[in-house]
Parts: sequence; C-alpha cells; structure tokens
Amino acid sequence: MTMLAKKEKIAVVGAGLMGHGIAQVFADAGHPVAIYDPDAAALARVPERVREIFRLLDADPSPVDHISLHERLENAVAGAQFVIEAGPERVPIKQEIFATLDALTGPDVILASNTSAIPIRELAAKAARRNRILGAHFWNPPHFVSLVEVIQSDATDIKFVQRAMKLLADAGMSPVHVKRDIPGFIGNRLQHALKREAIALVANGVCDAETLDKVVTEGFGSRLGVLGPLEQSDMVGLSLTLDAHRVLIADLDRTPGPHPLLEAKVSAGTTGMAVGEGFRRWTPEQATAVRKRFQEHLASEARKRRAARKAKAQA
Ligand SMILES: NC(=O)c1ccc[n+]([C@@H]2O[C@H](COP(=O)([O-])OP(=O)(O)OC[C@H]3O[C@@H](n4cnc5c(N)ncnc54)[C@H](O)[C@@H]3O)[C@@H](O)[C@H]2O)c1
Repeated sequence: MTMLAKKEKIAVVGAGLMGHGIAQVFADAGHPVAIYDPDAAALARVPERVREIFRLLDADPSPVDHISLHERLENAVAGAQFVIEAGPERVPIKQEIFATLDALTGPDVILASNTSAIPIRELAAKAARRNRILGAHFWNPPHFVSLVEVIQSDATDIKFVQRAMKLLADAGMSPVHVKRDIPGFIGNRLQHALKREAIALVANGVCDAETLDKVVTEGFGSRLGVLGPLEQSDMVGLSLTLDAHRVLIADLDRTPGPHPLLEAKVSAGTTGMAVGEGFRRWTPEQATAVRKRFQEHLASEARKRRAARKAKAQA
C-alpha cells in the first residue's frame, strides 16, 4: 500500500485565495485532496497556483497530482474524512454550504470552516448534526503560516476537535484549541487590539503611519516571532507588567467602535495599496516591493520548517 492510500481524503470547498493554499498543505502531506468550487475558472487555476507554491518552497511539485478538481460538491466530499469550507465570508452562503455538507456526509466526518469572523454556531445553524462542525482558521497564506485556530462551539463534540487537531498537526500545521466561539477567536482579537491603538496614535498626532510601522517591525515586533507577550511578561517579571499597566491601561484608546479615522479613509476611497493610498501613500513599485518582502520572508520560514519536517519524517 502506498503512503497516499493510508491518509484520509480531504475535501476543500472553495478554491480561492485560501482554498488552493489549504489544498497544497494537505497534498504536500500526502493526503488525497478533492477541491470544489462553483466557479469553473477558479477551479481550473488551482493546479497552476499550487505549483507556484511548490516553486516558492523550492520543492518537488508532484503532490499537485494528489489534488482532484470537482464541479459537483457531492463528488468532492464522497469518501472524505475532513471537509474544510473556504467559501465567501457571507453568513447565508456558509449556512447553506454546511446544511448541504451535513446532508451529504456521514456522522463521523469533520466539517470545518475557515471563517475569520463568523461564529461557528451561526454558520452551523441550518445543519442537523452540529457536533462535528468546528472552525479551522488558517491564516493567509495558509501554505506559509503554520498556525490554525481550531474553534469549538458549544455544540461541537471535543472528540472532533481532537481529531481535527491531530490531522492538522500530522500535516505539518500548528493547531491550537480555541475553547469558546467568540468573534475574532484569539489571533484576530490580538491583531485588532493592536490596530485600534495604532490608528488612535496616528489620529492623535503622536506619529505618522510610517513611524508607527517602524516602531512595531523594528521594535517589539522583531521579537514577537520568538517570544509571545505572556512569555515575555514572565521573562521580565510580572511586577514590571503590572507597573506599566497601572500607568498605561487607562490611557489606551477605548473608542467604542471603528475609529473615525478609519471610517473617514474608507468613505474617501483611500482604502490602501490597491488604490495608491491608505494610511500611507504607495506607488505601484512600492506596493510590489512590500508584497515581495512579505512573501519572501514567509516563504523562507516555511522552507526551513518544511525541510525540518521532511528530515524528521525520514529519520
Ligand atoms: N483572505 C484571507 O486573508 C483570509 C484569511 C483567513 C480566513 N479567510 C476566510 O477564508 C474564506 C475564503 O476566503 P478567500 O480569501 O479564499 O476568498 P476568495 O474570494 O478568494 O475565495 C472564495 C471562493 O469561494 C467560491 N465560492 C463561491 N460560492 C461558493 C459556494 N457556494 N460554495 C463553495 N465555494 C464558493 C468562489 O468562487 C471563490 O473561488 C472566507 O471565509 C475568509 O473569511 C480569509
């Protein structure tokens, strides 16, 4: 029996930005992967997009042959043990997808959503067997960022959470268990708490946007990849954190909604790099350079992790 035959079949529902990357992750780990999208053009682009990921990883692209393309959902999910939905971030669409997946699959099949914001209980509302529905929040790009937040709703049975976490870990991802189905889960709450203060600092004239980004990337951001904030608090001693909080916490931004500066920028159409201006002004060359820097950094980290994983598997 080949290695491929021993691995569970994975179905990916939605072949866009996230779906094709998730398909690459499982194909690279030796799973047969079936991907579905109602848009034939999106589906047809999957092999080429997945080959490009292998190129960036300096890796053999042959696992792309483990991915089959499907224009019918029932064919994609037939025989799959784990189905991950990466369709549009719209409640009615996801509710419909999960109701259909629930009807098409057996009771032991894990049904996961890659939603970044919709509560799992809400997207599962039209499904009958909600105990196997959970969140599996991959980060963009899923093929280069290893974290996956596995979200348990009040209806999810822990045994499905455990199975999903094992499957993800075996595929080289780094799953964490989010025990409550709250908006933004863990990562996006932290990320947006930082953005809230960042926007307020710029709006209040403390610094410009470029300075703000420099303070993060060249300051505490440079250590965040190796030292989490609570680990760092433990390292310096909690009394230092307490002293800082006594002075700072009451002064941090607490605008009770999106900041007016953000609202104003979006209303004015200055929505970011794609239009040449957001918090900062961008020429097309500058925008391309930032994207390239970002991709190369993540790809280089992913190459190292992948090489270590393959070496361990062969040892
Ligand atoms: N883009 C990100 O940075 C990011 C990060 C984490 C999570 N997510 C989440 O992942 C999901 C997918 O996001 P994306 O950026 O890949 O979007 P995308 O627009 O690139 O892809 C969505 C795909 O879903 C397809 N689709 C439309 N209707 C469908 C249906 N009924 N069934 C199945 N597929 C359908 C579309 O044709 C499209 O190919 C969303 O829930 C999003 O919130 C996105």
